Amino acid sequence: MTTSSSERGVSLGMPELPAPAYPDDVRTRLETDAREIIARYPDSRSALLPLLHLVQSEEGHVTRTGMRFCADVLGLTTAEVTAVATFYTMYRRRPSGDYQVGVCTNTLCAVMGGDAIFEELQEHLGVGNGETTDDGKITLEHIECNAACDFAPVVMVNWEFFDNQDPASAKRLVDDLRAGRPVEPTRGAPLCTFKETARILAGFPDERPGAVEASGGAGPASLVGLRLARGEAAPARVVHPREGGPHDEPHDTAVHKPSPTEHLSSHDAPQDTSASDPAHPAGPTAEEGE
Ligand code: FES
Repeated sequence: MTTSSSERGVSLGMPELPAPAYPDDVRTRLETDAREIIARYPDSRSALLPLLHLVQSEEGHVTRTGMRFCADVLGLTTAEVTAVATFYTMYRRRPSGDYQVGVCTNTLCAVMGGDAIFEELQEHLGVGNGETTDDGKITLEHIECNAACDFAPVVMVNWEFFDNQDPASAKRLVDDLRAGRPVEPTRGAPLCTFKETARILAGFPDERPGAVEASGGAGPASLVGLRLARGEAAPARVVHPREGGPHDEPHDTAVHKPSPTEHLSSHDAPQDTSASDPAHPAGPTAEEGE
């Protein structure tokens, strides 16, 4: 007579099957949302990515229950859903904090200070990559390039940009998040929690007043090249100076009043290369002979 691994108390590291279902009221609510998402696509399986964001908005990460739900409503196997959910890093597989603080440590941000920011935040928060603080507020992680290299080094909080950071500004940022003090991204929509962000990524409207308008367009640093190509003079610098700004003041958490530019930082070196020197604009004509 043979005995199963569970009877022998041996774990093979395999997930318990099947995954538990959502409670009836949650499932009913999610099914309504899922129908709305699926209706946007000619082929229902194309709705898998937003549906994974939807279930992530329910629990803060993509659980086995969430993947089972996606498989059920799309007529897929759980293996197919799992393959997608484990491929993309925007889907979290473990419980996470209200604020996902991602430090870009891709090449450009790393050399501009991203590595130093990540090291200091690990020590300051007492967590490692992918780990969450004990109060459940912050999940810290390395992130790859977010196409904001011209604002390096970049920190993302729930995928909102905090540009031109340095270790000190990044520590103030996480302190403010943990203390519940308001923080404002450098650009884009106001910050919301990770679950709320996941619901927006699922394709539901951001109904906060002014949020859509605040999404805006490219930041000034990104547009310098375009201005040069048009023969316009680019500004000498497009980031806020470190010296003489609010960050030079000692940070007193008891009386701290964040300003709209609170988490702006950082580079003190003027951007005075030939390409950004207003006295020597490098428009198309100038570049032709080079
Ligand atoms: S390398 Fe950090 S945003 Fe591109």
